[in-house]
Amino acid sequence: MLSAAADPTERAEETSLRPRRLDEFVGQPRLREHLEIMLSASRKRAQALDHVLLAGPPGLGKTSLAGIIAAELDVALRVTSGPALERAGDLAAILTNLDDGDVLFIDEIHRLPRTVEEVLYPAMEDFQLDIVIGKGPSARSIRLDLPRFTLVGATTRSGMITGPLRDRFGFVARLDYYEPDELVTILHRASGILGVPVTPDGSVEIARRARGTPRIANRLLKRVRDYAEVRADGRVDAEVARAALTLFEVDELGLDKVDRAVLRALCETFRGRPVGLGTLAVAVSEETETVEDVYEPFLLKQGLLLRTPRGRVATPAAFAHLGLGSPPGAAPGLFPD
Ligand SMILES: Nc1ncnc2c1ncn2[C@@H]1O[C@H](COP(=O)(O)OP(=O)(O)O)[C@@H](O)[C@H]1O
Ligand SMILES: [Mg+2]
Repeated sequence: MLSAAADPTERAEETSLRPRRLDEFVGQPRLREHLEIMLSASRKRAQALDHVLLAGPPGLGKTSLAGIIAAELDVALRVTSGPALERAGDLAAILTNLDDGDVLFIDEIHRLPRTVEEVLYPAMEDFQLDIVIGKGPSARSIRLDLPRFTLVGATTRSGMITGPLRDRFGFVARLDYYEPDELVTILHRASGILGVPVTPDGSVEIARRARGTPRIANRLLKRVRDYAEVRADGRVDAEVARAALTLFEVDELGLDKVDRAVLRALCETFRGRPVGLGTLAVAVSEETETVEDVYEPFLLKQGLLLRTPRGRVATPAAFAHLGLGSPPGAAPGLFPD
C-alpha cells in the first residue's frame, strides 16, 4: 500500500524528509498562520500551548506538525498512540513523567479506549490526574498535579472523536489535500535531500499523480528514481516519470490499483447502485476502515464517488475515467436488473 511506511529503510527516509520547522512545512497556509500566532503567543507568555487536534487523511503531515510544534517551542516531544494505551495506568505513567511545557503526541487518538480517554479529561482541563488506589471498600482516590503539558492529538477520523474530548482541544485543525504546485515544492526539497536529479516538468508529472498527498509524492519520487537509474540515465524528467508511473499502475489522476478496484466494484460489480461501505470493502478485499480513511476521501474529493444515505455510488466521472461510457441509470432500459 502506498500510504504506509513499508520497511525500515523507507521509514528512515521518511524521517529524513520530514519538515522540522514551521517554515519548512509547505502548504496548509491558514493552518500554518493560525499555528504561528498560537506559537508566538505561547512563547511570549511563556505558557504551554493550548491542546491541538489535527485531523485528516494519512500522509498529509499530522505527525510532522506534532514534531514541529515541539521544536518551535523548544520542548521535549513524547510520542504514543491510541491503540498503545490499553489501560488507564499506561497513560498515567506517561503523564506523570512529563515536564512543564512538554508536548505529548497521541496518534490515532480516536482509537483510545474509553477508560483511558476519561483519564485524559481532567488531565487536559485541570492538569490533574485521579488515581484509584486499592480495590473494593478500602479503595480510595487520590488526585495528583500534573505539569502543564500540551496535548497534540492526530486522527484520520474526526467523526469518531467524542464530544467531550473534542471540546477540550483549544484548536482543532483539518488538514486538506495539497495542490499540485505545493507538492512540486515538497518534491523539490525531497529531491535535494535524496540527491535525485529531477527536472521541473518531472516533478510536475509526479505531483499531478500523488493524490494530493506529500507522503505519496515522496514515495513516488523514490520509485521513479529507481526506474530512472535502471531504465534511463538517472535523471527524472516528465517522460521518465510518466513511463515509471504507468509501469507502477498509478494512473493519470493518481489513482492506484485499489482506488481503481473500488471504482470498478461500484461501476461494474454493483452497476452504479448504492453500496454499503462494508460490502464495498469486502469487494476490494480491504479493511472497512482502510477504505473509509485512505481511499474514499480522495475519490470523494475528485468527484468520482458520492456518499448517499443509501450507500456509496460512483459518479458519471468514475464511469468515464474507467472508459465505461455512461452509468446504467443514465440510459434506462439499456442495463436491465
Ligand atoms: N506540509 C508538508 N511539507 C513537506 N513535507 C511534508 C508535509 N506534510 C507531509 N510531508 C511529508 O510527508 C511525510 C508524511 O507526513 P506525516 O507527517 O507522517 O503524515 P501523517 O502523520 O498525517 O500521516 C513526511 O515524512 C514528509 O516527508
Ligand atoms: Mg502520522
